[in-house]
Amino acid sequence: MQNSVLIKKKIEPFSKKILVSSDKSLSIRSILISAQGIGKSKVKNLLESEDVLNALKAIKKLGIKVKKKNKEYLIFGNGLNGFRCKNNTTVYAGNSGTLGRLILGLLVKFKKSVIITGDNSLSKRDFSRVAEPLKLFGPIIDLKKGSLPAKIKGTNFLRPINYYEKKGSAQIKSSILIAAMNTPGKTIIKARKSRNHTELLFKYLKLPIKVQKARNYDYIHMEGLRQYKGFEYEIPGDISSASFFIVLTLLSENSKIIIRKVNINETRLGIIKILNKMNANIKFKNKKIYKGESIADIIVESVKNLKSINCPSSLNSSAIDEFLVIFLVAAKARGISSFKNLGELNKKESPRLNIAFKFLNMIGVKVIKNKDDIKIYGNPNLSLNKNYVVKKFLKDHRIFMMSCVAALTFGGNWKIYDKDSIRTSFPKFLSILRKIGAKIIVN
Ligand code: S3P
Repeated sequence: MQNSVLIKKKIEPFSKKILVSSDKSLSIRSILISAQGIGKSKVKNLLESEDVLNALKAIKKLGIKVKKKNKEYLIFGNGLNGFRCKNNTTVYAGNSGTLGRLILGLLVKFKKSVIITGDNSLSKRDFSRVAEPLKLFGPIIDLKKGSLPAKIKGTNFLRPINYYEKKGSAQIKSSILIAAMNTPGKTIIKARKSRNHTELLFKYLKLPIKVQKARNYDYIHMEGLRQYKGFEYEIPGDISSASFFIVLTLLSENSKIIIRKVNINETRLGIIKILNKMNANIKFKNKKIYKGESIADIIVESVKNLKSINCPSSLNSSAIDEFLVIFLVAAKARGISSFKNLGELNKKESPRLNIAFKFLNMIGVKVIKNKDDIKIYGNPNLSLNKNYVVKKFLKDHRIFMMSCVAALTFGGNWKIYDKDSIRTSFPKFLSILRKIGAKIIVN
Protein backbone atom coordinates (compact mmCIF):
# COMPACT_ATOMS: atom_id res chain seq x y z
CA MET A 1 0.00 0.00 0.00
CA GLN A 2 1.52 3.28 -1.12
CA ASN A 3 -0.94 5.45 0.77
CA SER A 4 -0.82 8.17 -1.87
CA VAL A 5 -3.23 9.88 -4.25
CA LEU A 6 -2.82 10.97 -7.86
CA ILE A 7 -4.40 14.17 -9.13
CA LYS A 8 -4.07 14.91 -12.82
CA LYS A 9 -6.90 17.30 -13.53
CA LYS A 10 -8.14 20.58 -12.14
CA ILE A 11 -11.59 20.50 -10.59
CA GLU A 12 -14.44 21.51 -12.96
CA PRO A 13 -16.66 24.46 -11.96
CA PHE A 14 -19.03 23.44 -9.14
CA SER A 15 -21.88 24.82 -7.10
CA LYS A 16 -22.52 22.76 -3.99
CA LYS A 17 -23.70 22.74 -0.41
CA ILE A 18 -21.58 20.68 1.97
CA LEU A 19 -21.06 19.86 5.61
CA VAL A 20 -17.49 19.50 6.81
CA SER A 21 -16.41 17.44 9.78
CA SER A 22 -17.00 18.56 13.35
CA ASP A 23 -14.69 20.91 15.18
CA LYS A 24 -11.64 19.12 16.57
CA SER A 25 -10.84 21.64 19.30
CA LEU A 26 -14.39 21.47 20.65
CA SER A 27 -14.58 17.68 20.31
CA ILE A 28 -11.45 17.15 22.40
CA ARG A 29 -12.44 19.79 24.98
CA SER A 30 -15.96 18.38 25.39
CA ILE A 31 -14.49 14.93 26.12
CA LEU A 32 -11.81 16.07 28.56
CA ILE A 33 -14.07 18.46 30.42
CA SER A 34 -17.00 16.06 30.68
CA ALA A 35 -14.56 13.51 32.19
CA GLN A 36 -14.49 15.69 35.33
CA GLY A 37 -18.18 16.55 35.45
CA ILE A 38 -20.53 14.73 37.76
CA GLY A 39 -22.71 12.21 35.96
CA LYS A 40 -23.64 11.79 32.34
CA SER A 41 -22.55 14.12 29.54
CA LYS A 42 -23.93 13.69 26.05
CA VAL A 43 -21.86 14.77 23.05
CA LYS A 44 -23.59 14.90 19.69
CA ASN A 45 -21.87 15.12 16.33
CA LEU A 46 -18.48 14.35 17.85
CA LEU A 47 -15.66 14.33 15.31
CA GLU A 48 -14.81 10.66 14.80
CA SER A 49 -11.19 11.18 13.86
CA GLU A 50 -8.09 9.57 15.33
CA ASP A 51 -7.18 12.55 17.54
CA VAL A 52 -10.64 12.57 19.08
CA LEU A 53 -10.92 8.79 19.42
CA ASN A 54 -7.58 8.91 21.23
CA ALA A 55 -9.11 11.45 23.64
CA LEU A 56 -11.94 9.01 24.37
CA LYS A 57 -9.47 6.16 24.90
CA ALA A 58 -7.42 8.42 27.18
CA ILE A 59 -10.27 9.18 29.58
CA LYS A 60 -11.30 5.50 29.53
CA LYS A 61 -7.78 4.65 30.68
CA LEU A 62 -8.31 7.08 33.56
CA GLY A 63 -11.34 5.07 34.61
CA ILE A 64 -14.11 7.06 32.95
CA LYS A 65 -16.97 5.12 31.38
CA VAL A 66 -17.80 6.01 27.76
CA LYS A 67 -20.66 4.63 25.68
CA LYS A 68 -21.88 5.30 22.17
CA LYS A 69 -25.64 5.33 21.75
CA ASN A 70 -27.38 6.28 18.50
CA LYS A 71 -24.53 8.43 17.19
CA GLU A 72 -24.16 10.19 20.55
CA TYR A 73 -21.30 9.69 22.94
CA LEU A 74 -22.18 9.35 26.61
CA ILE A 75 -19.40 10.16 29.04
CA PHE A 76 -19.90 9.33 32.70
CA GLY A 77 -17.69 11.67 34.74
CA ASN A 78 -17.00 11.08 38.44
CA GLY A 79 -16.25 14.68 39.34
CA LEU A 80 -13.00 16.55 39.89
CA ASN A 81 -11.49 13.70 41.94
CA GLY A 82 -12.90 10.93 39.84
CA PHE A 83 -10.04 9.29 37.96
CA ARG A 84 -9.16 5.69 38.78
CA CYS A 85 -6.27 3.77 37.28
CA LYS A 86 -3.05 1.96 38.16
CA ASN A 87 0.18 3.76 38.84
CA ASN A 88 2.19 4.44 35.66
CA THR A 89 -0.79 4.10 33.33
CA THR A 90 0.17 5.11 29.80
CA VAL A 91 -2.11 7.40 27.81
CA TYR A 92 -1.47 7.69 24.06
CA ALA A 93 -2.13 11.15 22.61
CA GLY A 94 -1.36 10.05 19.03
CA ASN A 95 -0.82 13.07 16.77
CA SER A 96 -2.70 15.53 18.94
CA GLY A 97 -0.98 18.43 20.68
CA THR A 98 -4.32 19.53 22.08
CA LEU A 99 -4.97 16.17 23.73
CA GLY A 100 -1.40 15.70 25.00
CA ARG A 101 -1.21 19.17 26.47
CA LEU A 102 -4.72 19.67 27.84
CA ILE A 103 -4.78 16.29 29.56
CA LEU A 104 -1.76 17.32 31.64
CA GLY A 105 -3.92 20.10 33.09
CA LEU A 106 -6.57 17.56 33.97
CA LEU A 107 -4.06 15.46 35.94
CA VAL A 108 -2.46 18.04 38.26
CA LYS A 109 -4.46 16.75 41.22
CA PHE A 110 -4.41 13.02 40.43
CA LYS A 111 -2.01 11.22 42.74
CA LYS A 112 -1.10 8.29 40.50
CA SER A 113 1.67 8.68 37.93
CA VAL A 114 0.41 8.87 34.36
CA ILE A 115 2.64 8.73 31.31
CA ILE A 116 1.63 10.60 28.16
CA THR A 117 3.06 9.34 24.88
CA GLY A 118 2.49 10.31 21.25
CA ASP A 119 3.31 9.41 17.66
CA ASN A 120 6.54 10.37 15.90
CA SER A 121 5.39 13.89 15.10
CA LEU A 122 3.96 14.67 18.56
CA SER A 123 7.06 13.24 20.25
CA LYS A 124 9.15 15.90 18.52
CA ARG A 125 7.01 18.79 19.75
CA ASP A 126 7.62 21.10 22.69
CA PHE A 127 5.87 20.14 25.91
CA SER A 128 7.89 22.37 28.24
CA ARG A 129 5.53 25.18 27.16
CA VAL A 130 2.80 23.50 29.22
CA ALA A 131 4.92 21.60 31.76
CA GLU A 132 6.57 24.81 33.04
CA PRO A 133 3.36 26.67 33.95
CA LEU A 134 1.65 23.50 35.19
CA LYS A 135 4.53 22.66 37.54
CA LEU A 136 3.93 26.01 39.25
CA PHE A 137 0.62 24.56 40.52
CA GLY A 138 2.53 21.79 42.34
CA PRO A 139 2.53 18.48 40.42
CA ILE A 140 5.72 16.69 39.38
CA ILE A 141 6.12 16.60 35.60
CA ASP A 142 9.10 14.97 33.89
CA LEU A 143 9.71 15.32 30.18
CA LYS A 144 12.25 13.76 27.87
CA LYS A 145 14.32 16.69 26.62
CA GLY A 146 11.32 19.01 26.72
CA SER A 147 9.10 16.57 24.80
CA LEU A 148 7.12 13.36 25.21
CA PRO A 149 6.93 11.00 26.94
CA ALA A 150 5.72 13.14 29.83
CA LYS A 151 5.26 11.66 33.28
CA ILE A 152 2.94 13.51 35.60
CA LYS A 153 2.22 12.86 39.27
CA GLY A 154 -0.36 15.19 40.72
CA THR A 155 -0.75 16.36 44.29
CA ASN A 156 -3.35 17.53 46.76
CA PHE A 157 -1.16 20.46 47.69
CA LEU A 158 -1.94 22.67 44.76
CA ARG A 159 -1.63 26.43 44.71
CA PRO A 160 -3.14 28.84 42.18
CA ILE A 161 -0.79 30.69 39.86
CA ASN A 162 -0.31 34.01 38.15
CA TYR A 163 0.89 33.43 34.60
CA TYR A 164 1.71 35.48 31.56
CA GLU A 165 1.08 33.48 28.35
CA LYS A 166 3.06 35.22 25.62
CA LYS A 167 2.84 32.89 22.63
CA GLY A 168 -0.87 33.26 21.87
CA SER A 169 -1.30 29.51 22.36
CA ALA A 170 -4.76 28.24 23.24
CA GLN A 171 -3.25 24.92 24.22
CA ILE A 172 -1.06 26.53 26.90
CA LYS A 173 -3.92 28.77 28.09
CA SER A 174 -6.40 25.87 28.19
CA SER A 175 -4.09 23.47 30.03
CA ILE A 176 -3.59 26.19 32.68
CA LEU A 177 -7.35 26.85 32.89
CA ILE A 178 -8.09 23.15 33.32
CA ALA A 179 -5.42 22.91 36.04
CA ALA A 180 -6.92 26.04 37.66
CA MET A 181 -10.30 24.30 37.70
CA ASN A 182 -8.68 21.58 39.86
CA THR A 183 -6.90 24.01 42.20
CA PRO A 184 -8.24 25.93 45.19
CA GLY A 185 -8.08 29.72 44.95
CA LYS A 186 -7.85 32.16 42.08
CA THR A 187 -5.55 31.62 39.10
CA ILE A 188 -4.87 34.68 36.99
CA ILE A 189 -3.63 34.48 33.41
CA LYS A 190 -2.61 37.31 31.16
CA ALA A 191 -2.92 35.56 27.82
CA ARG A 192 -2.08 36.78 24.38
CA LYS A 193 -5.25 36.37 22.28
CA SER A 194 -5.96 32.83 21.09
CA ARG A 195 -8.99 30.63 20.52
CA ASN A 196 -11.32 30.85 23.53
CA HIS A 197 -13.35 27.62 23.40
CA THR A 198 -12.29 26.54 26.89
CA GLU A 199 -13.35 29.87 28.41
CA LEU A 200 -16.73 29.73 26.64
CA LEU A 201 -17.38 26.17 27.76
CA PHE A 202 -16.44 27.07 31.36
CA LYS A 203 -18.82 30.05 31.21
CA TYR A 204 -21.58 27.83 29.88
CA LEU A 205 -20.94 25.43 32.78
CA LYS A 206 -21.24 28.42 35.14
CA LEU A 207 -17.72 27.99 36.49
CA PRO A 208 -16.31 31.10 38.15
CA ILE A 209 -14.28 32.49 35.26
CA LYS A 210 -13.97 36.16 34.33
CA VAL A 211 -12.38 37.41 31.13
CA GLN A 212 -11.36 41.04 30.70
CA LYS A 213 -10.48 41.83 27.14
CA ALA A 214 -7.68 44.19 26.24
CA ARG A 215 -6.33 44.90 22.76
CA ASN A 216 -3.87 42.04 22.34
CA TYR A 217 -4.37 40.18 25.60
CA ASP A 218 -7.10 38.73 27.74
CA TYR A 219 -6.90 38.84 31.52
CA ILE A 220 -8.54 35.69 32.85
CA HIS A 221 -9.49 35.08 36.46
CA MET A 222 -10.50 31.56 37.36
CA GLU A 223 -11.58 30.20 40.75
CA GLY A 224 -11.00 26.50 41.17
CA LEU A 225 -12.71 23.49 42.76
CA ARG A 226 -16.22 24.42 41.68
CA GLN A 227 -17.83 21.12 40.75
CA TYR A 228 -20.13 21.01 37.70
CA LYS A 229 -22.61 18.52 36.39
CA GLY A 230 -22.46 16.49 33.18
CA PHE A 231 -23.72 18.48 30.19
CA GLU A 232 -24.99 18.16 26.63
CA TYR A 233 -23.07 19.52 23.71
CA GLU A 234 -23.51 19.38 19.95
CA ILE A 235 -20.30 19.99 18.03
CA PRO A 236 -20.51 22.36 15.02
CA GLY A 237 -18.37 22.14 11.87
CA ASP A 238 -14.68 22.96 11.95
CA ILE A 239 -13.57 26.16 10.21
CA SER A 240 -10.08 24.67 9.86
CA SER A 241 -11.54 21.81 7.81
CA ALA A 242 -13.82 24.24 5.96
CA SER A 243 -10.76 26.32 5.00
CA PHE A 244 -9.65 23.79 2.38
CA PHE A 245 -13.00 24.12 0.62
CA ILE A 246 -13.07 27.89 1.04
CA VAL A 247 -9.74 28.20 -0.76
CA LEU A 248 -10.59 25.50 -3.31
CA THR A 249 -13.64 27.54 -4.28
CA LEU A 250 -11.85 30.90 -4.31
CA LEU A 251 -9.14 29.56 -6.61
CA SER A 252 -11.45 27.60 -8.95
CA GLU A 253 -13.33 29.13 -11.84
CA ASN A 254 -17.05 30.01 -11.72
CA SER A 255 -17.68 28.02 -8.58
CA LYS A 256 -19.68 28.47 -5.43
CA ILE A 257 -19.91 26.60 -2.16
CA ILE A 258 -22.08 26.80 0.92
CA ILE A 259 -20.49 25.16 3.95
CA ARG A 260 -23.20 24.58 6.51
CA LYS A 261 -23.15 24.90 10.30
CA VAL A 262 -19.55 25.92 10.85
CA ASN A 263 -18.18 27.33 14.09
CA ILE A 264 -17.39 30.98 13.35
CA ASN A 265 -16.08 31.88 16.79
CA GLU A 266 -14.37 35.29 16.43
CA THR A 267 -11.06 33.82 17.68
CA ARG A 268 -11.00 31.44 14.70
CA LEU A 269 -11.90 33.93 11.97
CA GLY A 270 -8.41 34.99 10.92
CA ILE A 271 -8.72 33.16 7.60
CA ILE A 272 -11.94 34.96 6.67
CA LYS A 273 -10.53 38.38 7.62
CA ILE A 274 -7.32 37.74 5.69
CA LEU A 275 -9.04 36.40 2.57
CA ASN A 276 -11.60 39.20 2.55
CA LYS A 277 -8.73 41.71 2.68
CA MET A 278 -7.38 39.90 -0.40
CA ASN A 279 -10.64 40.62 -2.28
CA ALA A 280 -12.60 37.50 -1.47
CA ASN A 281 -16.20 38.09 -0.62
CA ILE A 282 -16.90 35.42 1.97
CA LYS A 283 -20.24 35.77 3.72
CA PHE A 284 -22.09 34.21 6.64
CA LYS A 285 -25.74 33.23 6.66
CA ASN A 286 -28.10 31.71 9.24
CA LYS A 287 -25.97 32.92 12.14
CA LYS A 288 -26.84 31.67 15.59
CA ILE A 289 -25.31 31.36 19.02
CA TYR A 290 -24.98 27.94 20.62
CA LYS A 291 -23.77 27.71 24.22
CA GLY A 292 -21.54 30.74 23.72
CA GLU A 293 -20.15 29.66 20.32
CA SER A 294 -21.24 31.28 17.03
CA ILE A 295 -22.34 29.07 14.18
CA ALA A 296 -23.22 29.95 10.58
CA ASP A 297 -23.26 28.78 6.98
CA ILE A 298 -20.24 30.08 5.06
CA ILE A 299 -20.78 31.20 1.47
CA VAL A 300 -17.84 31.44 -0.90
CA GLU A 301 -17.57 32.22 -4.62
CA SER A 302 -14.61 32.12 -6.99
CA VAL A 303 -12.67 35.37 -7.30
CA LYS A 304 -10.67 36.52 -10.33
CA ASN A 305 -8.95 39.63 -8.98
CA LEU A 306 -7.33 38.46 -5.76
CA LYS A 307 -4.86 40.94 -4.35
CA SER A 308 -1.86 40.57 -2.09
CA ILE A 309 -1.87 41.27 1.63
CA ASN A 310 0.48 42.70 4.19
CA CYS A 311 -0.91 40.43 6.87
CA PRO A 312 -1.17 42.00 10.34
CA SER A 313 0.52 39.69 12.88
CA SER A 314 -2.40 40.32 15.22
CA LEU A 315 -4.34 37.85 13.02
CA ASN A 316 -1.72 35.08 13.31
CA SER A 317 -3.22 33.17 16.21
CA SER A 318 -6.78 33.25 14.84
CA ALA A 319 -5.57 31.77 11.51
CA ILE A 320 -2.77 29.57 12.84
CA ASP A 321 -4.01 26.30 11.31
CA GLU A 322 -5.01 27.94 8.02
CA PHE A 323 -1.80 29.62 6.82
CA LEU A 324 -0.91 26.78 4.47
CA VAL A 325 -3.99 27.40 2.34
CA ILE A 326 -3.77 31.16 2.79
CA PHE A 327 -0.29 30.91 1.19
CA LEU A 328 -1.90 29.25 -1.86
CA VAL A 329 -4.18 32.25 -2.25
CA ALA A 330 -1.17 34.57 -1.92
CA ALA A 331 0.55 32.59 -4.70
CA LYS A 332 -2.33 33.43 -7.06
CA ALA A 333 -2.94 37.03 -5.93
CA ARG A 334 -1.68 40.12 -7.71
CA GLY A 335 1.33 41.56 -5.85
CA ILE A 336 3.66 40.55 -3.05
CA SER A 337 2.12 39.23 0.14
CA SER A 338 3.95 39.46 3.40
CA PHE A 339 3.38 37.43 6.59
CA LYS A 340 5.39 38.04 9.75
CA ASN A 341 6.18 36.41 13.11
CA LEU A 342 5.01 32.95 12.10
CA GLY A 343 7.51 31.03 14.25
CA GLU A 344 4.64 29.10 15.89
CA LEU A 345 3.83 27.55 12.48
CA ASN A 346 7.07 25.61 12.70
CA LYS A 347 5.92 24.11 16.02
CA LYS A 348 2.94 22.28 14.57
CA GLU A 349 2.49 18.64 13.43
CA SER A 350 5.36 19.39 11.02
CA PRO A 351 7.49 22.54 10.60
CA ARG A 352 4.82 24.07 8.40
CA LEU A 353 6.50 27.37 7.60
CA ASN A 354 9.62 25.58 6.34
CA ILE A 355 7.56 23.08 4.40
CA ALA A 356 5.38 25.81 2.86
CA PHE A 357 8.56 27.55 1.69
CA LYS A 358 9.83 24.36 0.02
CA PHE A 359 6.40 23.61 -1.44
CA LEU A 360 6.01 27.04 -3.01
CA ASN A 361 9.54 26.80 -4.39
CA MET A 362 8.72 23.41 -5.87
CA ILE A 363 5.76 24.81 -7.79
CA GLY A 364 7.82 27.75 -9.06
CA VAL A 365 6.35 30.50 -6.91
CA LYS A 366 8.92 33.10 -5.90
CA VAL A 367 9.11 33.16 -2.13
CA ILE A 368 11.53 34.70 0.36
CA LYS A 369 11.74 33.41 3.90
CA ASN A 370 13.58 35.26 6.59
CA LYS A 371 13.44 33.45 9.94
CA ASP A 372 9.76 33.63 10.91
CA ASP A 373 8.65 35.92 8.07
CA ILE A 374 7.68 34.96 4.55
CA LYS A 375 7.05 36.96 1.37
CA ILE A 376 5.14 35.40 -1.48
CA TYR A 377 5.28 36.87 -4.98
CA GLY A 378 1.83 36.21 -6.38
CA ASN A 379 0.99 35.48 -9.99
CA PRO A 380 -2.68 35.73 -11.08
CA ASN A 381 -1.86 33.57 -14.12
CA LEU A 382 -0.28 30.79 -12.09
CA SER A 383 -0.91 27.53 -13.93
CA LEU A 384 1.10 24.33 -13.57
CA ASN A 385 1.77 21.52 -16.02
CA LYS A 386 4.73 19.54 -14.65
CA ASN A 387 4.97 16.50 -12.36
CA TYR A 388 4.96 17.14 -8.62
CA VAL A 389 5.56 14.75 -5.75
CA VAL A 390 4.76 15.67 -2.16
CA LYS A 391 6.21 13.36 0.47
CA LYS A 392 8.21 13.25 3.70
CA PHE A 393 6.34 15.86 5.68
CA LEU A 394 5.90 13.94 8.94
CA LYS A 395 2.48 12.75 7.76
CA ASP A 396 1.01 16.18 8.44
CA HIS A 397 -2.72 16.09 7.58
CA ARG A 398 -2.89 19.78 6.71
CA ILE A 399 0.07 19.55 4.30
CA PHE A 400 -1.67 16.65 2.54
CA MET A 401 -4.97 18.54 2.22
CA MET A 402 -3.28 21.80 1.14
CA SER A 403 -1.41 19.87 -1.57
CA CYS A 404 -4.68 18.43 -2.90
CA VAL A 405 -6.16 21.95 -3.10
CA ALA A 406 -3.06 23.18 -4.98
CA ALA A 407 -3.27 20.27 -7.42
CA LEU A 408 -6.99 20.77 -8.07
CA THR A 409 -6.71 24.51 -8.68
CA PHE A 410 -3.25 25.15 -10.18
CA GLY A 411 -3.11 22.04 -12.41
CA GLY A 412 -0.19 19.68 -13.09
CA ASN A 413 0.37 16.01 -12.48
CA TRP A 414 0.53 15.25 -8.77
CA LYS A 415 1.43 12.38 -6.53
CA ILE A 416 0.70 13.22 -2.91
CA TYR A 417 1.79 10.82 -0.16
CA ASP A 418 0.42 10.11 3.30
CA LYS A 419 -3.25 10.09 2.45
CA ASP A 420 -3.99 8.39 5.77
CA SER A 421 -2.88 11.48 7.67
CA ILE A 422 -6.40 12.90 7.12
CA ARG A 423 -7.67 10.37 9.66
CA THR A 424 -6.39 12.61 12.45
CA SER A 425 -8.72 15.54 11.70
CA PHE A 426 -10.85 15.13 8.59
CA PRO A 427 -11.43 11.51 7.53
CA LYS A 428 -14.11 12.52 5.01
CA PHE A 429 -11.92 15.06 3.19
CA LEU A 430 -11.45 13.01 0.02
CA SER A 431 -15.04 11.81 -0.19
CA ILE A 432 -16.33 15.41 0.07
CA LEU A 433 -13.85 16.51 -2.60
CA ARG A 434 -15.16 13.77 -4.89
CA LYS A 435 -18.74 14.78 -4.13
CA ILE A 436 -18.04 18.22 -5.56
CA GLY A 437 -16.43 16.73 -8.64
CA ALA A 438 -12.69 16.30 -7.96
CA LYS A 439 -11.04 13.42 -9.79
CA ILE A 440 -8.70 11.77 -7.33
CA ILE A 441 -7.08 8.39 -7.88
CA VAL A 442 -6.11 6.46 -4.78
CA ASN A 443 -2.84 4.76 -5.50
C1 S3P B 1 -5.57 24.24 19.26
C2 S3P B 1 -4.76 25.33 19.35
C3 S3P B 1 -3.74 25.66 18.35
C4 S3P B 1 -3.95 24.90 17.04
C5 S3P B 1 -4.27 23.47 17.27
C6 S3P B 1 -5.51 23.31 18.12
C7 S3P B 1 -6.54 23.99 20.35
O1 S3P B 1 -2.46 25.34 18.86
O2 S3P B 1 -2.81 25.02 16.22
O3 S3P B 1 -4.47 22.81 16.03
O4 S3P B 1 -7.47 23.20 20.17
O5 S3P B 1 -6.38 24.61 21.40
P1 S3P B 1 -1.69 26.39 19.79
O6 S3P B 1 -2.62 26.76 20.85
O7 S3P B 1 -0.49 25.69 20.35
O8 S3P B 1 -1.31 27.51 18.89
